[in-house]
Amino acid sequence: MNKEKIIINEEKYVCQTYKRIPVVFEKGEGCYLWDSEGKRYLDFVAGLAVNALGHAHPKVVKAINKQAKKLIHTSNLYYTEPMVDLAKLLIKNSFNGKCFFCNSGAEANEAAIKLTRLYSKTTFSPDRYEIITFDNSFHGRTLATITATGQKKYQEGFEPLMPGFVTIPFGNLAALKAVIKPTTCAILTEVIQAEGGINEADISFWQGVSEIVKKEKMLLIVDEIQTGMGRTGQLFGYQQYGLDPDIITLAKALANGLPIGAMIAKKKIAETFKPGHHASTFGGNPLVTQVALTVLKTLLKENIINKVRDDGIYFQEKLSGLKNKYKFITKIKGKGLIIGMELAVDGQNIVQKCFEKGLIINCLKNNILRFIPPLIIKREEIDSAVKILDEVFGEI
Ligand SMILES: Cc1ncc(COP(=O)(O)O)c(C=O)c1O
Repeated sequence: MNKEKIIINEEKYVCQTYKRIPVVFEKGEGCYLWDSEGKRYLDFVAGLAVNALGHAHPKVVKAINKQAKKLIHTSNLYYTEPMVDLAKLLIKNSFNGKCFFCNSGAEANEAAIKLTRLYSKTTFSPDRYEIITFDNSFHGRTLATITATGQKKYQEGFEPLMPGFVTIPFGNLAALKAVIKPTTCAILTEVIQAEGGINEADISFWQGVSEIVKKEKMLLIVDEIQTGMGRTGQLFGYQQYGLDPDIITLAKALANGLPIGAMIAKKKIAETFKPGHHASTFGGNPLVTQVALTVLKTLLKENIINKVRDDGIYFQEKLSGLKNKYKFITKIKGKGLIIGMELAVDGQNIVQKCFEKGLIINCLKNNILRFIPPLIIKREEIDSAVKILDEVFGEI
């Protein structure tokens, strides 16, 4: 089918919930994608922080093939080995806890919300259920997770929202202290607000958060869906800030593009979940968990995470060079390979111009360019992206 026909049929047969760029991608390798007309693009979106090992990574392809030939799915009525191995390796590299597997980030957060309510109600009081979240956060598109998300645009039209959430300014300890009530049970937060604009909070905020959750016996839930799996230059973003979360949620890069979500909760909290409390038909099936295991082992064994830290510094230096050259660049922010560039001009136009020159980036809030390339990116690929950005900025 040609490109025009695909676009027409998509409009005809697929719910129009996305504003897609008119390109049909046919294949990928490493940090590159090729469209249906054979044009090559350098991919600095990586499937929205999913393709950590790039496209068609040989180990990922091999793991999919090998496991698909053996066993794809059985349901959670039975035991399978890859799920258990993945849980063990995740726990070894995070904290003494237990995993629940599902299929997406929103579902991982749903699991965290349900577990938090159950634990808090049974441990403290039936009235303890309220979760604090932050303005500009993003936690998913289910009803509970849009309620948790601190951005009105995702909520409008879907009211009534879920009870039991309160949203306050990010990074503001006074606001946090003021909102805590006997009904409060947890804080749900990203460590770097990703969809909300690559926003970071001061280390003093995180120190304050740690003290408050300890003092108030509240749970700290860190949404690592975008910042996890090495993206910030540590396996998990919370490790950058010395946090001690009770629950973390993962998805996106966990299986490099196969749909998977995971929630990890400290043992005592996780053990509140009993058979029947929560479930997912596909959750943790042997195919996705075998691939996730391969991804995690590759990230850990091939020194990719240290490379991300160094590449992030290198990339930010290059972007700062552009900032010195072009006055409309107002800020460079982020950590590792989750970087934002704030502009005083329209960012969508820049995304379009980069696209025409074969560089894929995206834009948050109309004026923040986001760079989330595969974690295996090479220095020369970073240089190529910076060169294209320089050319595009020069035309503005
Ligand atoms: C921080 C964060 N949480 C949750 C989600 C939702 O994940 P999913 O789209 O897999 O449901 C996202 C997606 O962008 C995210 O960035």
